[in-house]
Amino acid sequence: MTAPIRALLTALALCALAACTPRDAATESQREVAPILLSADARDAHSFARPAEARVTHVSLDLAADFEAERMVGSATLDLEVADDATEVVLDTRDLDIREVSNAGGEALQWALGEADGAHGAPLTVQLDGAEQIKIEYASSPDAVALQWLSPEQTAGGEKPFLFSQGQAILNRSWIPTQDSPGIRQTWDARIVAPEGIQVVMSADLANRDGERVDGPEGQAMRAFEFEMIHPVAPYLIAIAAGDLAFREIGPRTGVWAEPATLAAAAREFTDLERMVAAAELLYGPYRWGRYDVLVLPPAFPYGGMENPRLTFLTPTVIAGDGSLVSLLAHELAHSWSGNLVTNATWNDTWLNEGFTTYIENRIMEQVYGPEQAAMLAELSWADLQAGIEAAGGPSSAATQLHVELDDIDPDDWPSGVAYEKGEVFLRTLEHAVGRERFDAWLRGYFDRYAFQPQTSARLLTDLNEHLFADDPALAERIGLERWIFQPGLPSNAFHWTSPRFAAVDRIAAAFVERGDAAAIPWDDWTTQERLRFLAALPRELPAPRLAALDRALALSESGNGEVRFAWLMLAIPNRYDPAKPSAEAFLTSMGRRKFVAPLFEALIAQGEWGAAFARELYAEARPGYHSVTTTTVDETVGYRPSG
Ligand code: BES
Ligand code: ZN
Repeated sequence: MTAPIRALLTALALCALAACTPRDAATESQREVAPILLSADARDAHSFARPAEARVTHVSLDLAADFEAERMVGSATLDLEVADDATEVVLDTRDLDIREVSNAGGEALQWALGEADGAHGAPLTVQLDGAEQIKIEYASSPDAVALQWLSPEQTAGGEKPFLFSQGQAILNRSWIPTQDSPGIRQTWDARIVAPEGIQVVMSADLANRDGERVDGPEGQAMRAFEFEMIHPVAPYLIAIAAGDLAFREIGPRTGVWAEPATLAAAAREFTDLERMVAAAELLYGPYRWGRYDVLVLPPAFPYGGMENPRLTFLTPTVIAGDGSLVSLLAHELAHSWSGNLVTNATWNDTWLNEGFTTYIENRIMEQVYGPEQAAMLAELSWADLQAGIEAAGGPSSAATQLHVELDDIDPDDWPSGVAYEKGEVFLRTLEHAVGRERFDAWLRGYFDRYAFQPQTSARLLTDLNEHLFADDPALAERIGLERWIFQPGLPSNAFHWTSPRFAAVDRIAAAFVERGDAAAIPWDDWTTQERLRFLAALPRELPAPRLAALDRALALSESGNGEVRFAWLMLAIPNRYDPAKPSAEAFLTSMGRRKFVAPLFEALIAQGEWGAAFARELYAEARPGYHSVTTTTVDETVGYRPSG
């Protein structure tokens, strides 16, 4: 029997038992089972799964969000594709409380949890005894690394608690027992029960916006929300948020979810969202996920953005008030092609997600805001790349390769800046070598050829040779594709897109260093990108009077633009500029975005007596508000040890 037919029959059998609506059976038959790569270069060192024996094809979650206990409680029912001679399935888990595993008939199956191995968690091995569907009853731990349970005080509204998840890279196993490997794509659905007054959203189609009234334990008023993702996705892309959330439309298929207090500002900030989707489609073909909505999270969200399908998760720090940081939106939208449609098979090829996305982000920005803006963004990114290579140990460090061998390195603790900007520059270099028209046609075809599939560096290389360089292999040779992908450093043929407006900014920065005349800085006429360039162009060592003059003229310590505030503090702290301390304190206790939090604590610690004690005290105060992604990184920096 073929897998889809088997799945359909199982669905019909289950429907007979559970009296489902015909809609369920119909969508079940629409689900596709995505292929997986099983070549040696696609072995995933960060998952215990052995998909060649038994692999998960569909996940069905039935969970209640228990805000008091800070646990997700319920079950995950997994559809499996089992090889003829296989007897067991291995799943990824982390800190899960497994209560029972049974087959479709409700009979108990034998299972065992292996030893826990740090960030990898523990393998859950289930004896199948012929089963091709298993149900795992479980609860997540209050310490689940993917989840953050916020008290009402940690939200904008201050009245209701909030829950959100962050799955990438290997965190989802802390609330979903499945094969947590990006190469093992799974369709999924979910029924989530939450207390009355809490709106649940997920990275999938929400069938009932208002939920359905159900009784909780002790007759408590609850609501059940139903979700469905009919496309096979990498399991790190299953995401949830629940809290006091409201929705506002932006365009016909775009909109924003946020706490009521943030909704209007968010909708204003993201007015160009629909145009961005249209621009991306023009370049790379149809947007394949139906709606594209964004969700503004409470300030604890540890990333700038996370490309959860149909529902990008965003930090509130992207709301600058003037739309000046929306390249972040373009970035997460770009992942709808690079990352969500074509997905790195393992975390050794993160650059296939992030590098492609950083390139596409810039192309979307160029399409919507013009080449002058795009050039500035590209040049900021180029500077980030230089810094990233240094931070990774210099140009001969293996950490500066696009394809990396992470093996026993935790992919969530990996400074992957190089994957973003070196990846971007590689694609930009290819674009310039073959011409934009040919390159765009290739990239669009690439997304069609590998849609809903995992991807590896090796397969990309083959594809480039077969599709982009078929009639000019000598050109591929000259560019040095393999060197770009598998060797460290930045090849000398790297294409550097420069911005004439930045050249002007650089001259003004030099004049300020010389004369200290802050009134001569045309700050108000500048875009945020020029302001960021200005701050980056200043020498890292500046005397206090120069810093004070800047701060007085430009109010940098109070800047409400997160990127500007961060760039300023990263200049002021190493110069031990005292007024930076209250500014850093206010900033670091107001949001938990790792990209800002981690370097600032590092900079403070590096200042010994001036900054280290201050940093430790501040961290103890701020840490309870941070997500595990941020604390895992910063704990090490500040030498934090939990007391008691
Ligand atoms: N997918 C990433 C976030 C991520 C990467 C999470 C690796 C876990 C592991 C997301 O698309 C991203 O890159 N976010 C950036 C924004 C961006 C504009 C560079 C961020 O959070 O700063
Ligand atoms: Zn990204």
